[in-house]
Amino acid sequence: MSASLTKSFLPGVMPLKVEGDRLLLVDQRKLPLEFCYFDASEHEQMVFAIKDMVVRGAPSIGVAAAFGLAFEARRLAQELTRQELTRQELTKEELTRDKLQLGGLTFLRAFTQAKDDLDQTRPTAVNLRWATERMKKVVLAAIAAQVPLVQCAEQAYLEAEAILNEHLAANLAISNFGSELVKNGARLITHCNAGGLAACGYGTALGVIRAAHYQGKNISVYADETRPRNQGSKLTMWELAQDKIPSTLICDSMSGHLMSSGQIDMVITGADRIARNGDSANKIGTYNLAVLAHYHKIPFYIAAPLSTFDFDLIDGKNIPIEEREQNEVLTINGAPITVPDAQAYNPGFDVTPAQLIAGIITEVGVLRPDYSLSITKAIGLKN
Ligand code: MRU
Repeated sequence: MSASLTKSFLPGVMPLKVEGDRLLLVDQRKLPLEFCYFDASEHEQMVFAIKDMVVRGAPSIGVAAAFGLAFEARRLAQELTRQELTRQELTKEELTRDKLQLGGLTFLRAFTQAKDDLDQTRPTAVNLRWATERMKKVVLAAIAAQVPLVQCAEQAYLEAEAILNEHLAANLAISNFGSELVKNGARLITHCNAGGLAACGYGTALGVIRAAHYQGKNISVYADETRPRNQGSKLTMWELAQDKIPSTLICDSMSGHLMSSGQIDMVITGADRIARNGDSANKIGTYNLAVLAHYHKIPFYIAAPLSTFDFDLIDGKNIPIEEREQNEVLTINGAPITVPDAQAYNPGFDVTPAQLIAGIITEVGVLRPDYSLSITKAIGLKN
């Protein structure tokens, strides 16, 4: 099941960077008109950034939250250590492990509050909680072992780096496996943005596209604009342009026509949460594409890392669907597009039933139906 990527394979896109003591997010709200960074070094800024979709895409949200928690852990450690030193009039050396434990409980309480704030920002992407749980586990273990707070924060930082690096590697593997499914000259549709901005590095669905392109497969891509936030026209088209991959923007309502007139060979999207039976939540409109693809006998694939699987859910019925502000539907780039008092409905995601999915491309290989079996096997491979 392996195919090595060519040397010319580009590194993709990073949605965040750490510069000294600053945590910077690529401001995805501004692309493609402007490439700039948003400073999310403070906890409140990170909470805002995820809610407002400065950073978005399930894996990137998880990675950003992990770094946000690592930065918060550093801040808490410095503050509490300072307080403890002043309160007890101790030198750093005199501050024994036992005394630090006093600060440890306060640290843990504040860290958990920060984690809870982040968990509540976006409910559908399971990668968010997956990443914050990992961060909490590391911090809990360090506090339990009476590790000094500053070191505890450093362990949290290393965990955030590990989460990022694992995603970069997972995306590379996904791209590798997925590109084997792409035929020479294939014409693909993708929805929303499942590129490096959304998942770090190569991206997931867009990583597969990148890999196929760099393997010289002469592919072309139709990008759904993806109303209401237009991640397709703004972000996917931008990423495709960076790598000079032949691409064409379409309105979401055009995919049926393209499929029925024989212009599409494959559909590939990312996912925000995948249940144990393969039912997959992704950006609103993905389900429409999957139904159309099924009707036209065009393979529909999901590309996602194992961090997107929710092993607690038997099927997709209980996947929480984020409902976002009406304004995203009532306006485009801030300009009203309907009558003044119009009501709008804005579910951010829909669930594609497993039976419409030809395969789920993960870092451990391409999972095929029966997903209940292949997903269980994949978890075993990972662990
Ligand atoms: O609301 P968004 O932009 O965060 O939604 C993103 C998607 O639906 C992506 O397709 C999904 O997160 C997969 S990203 C690799």
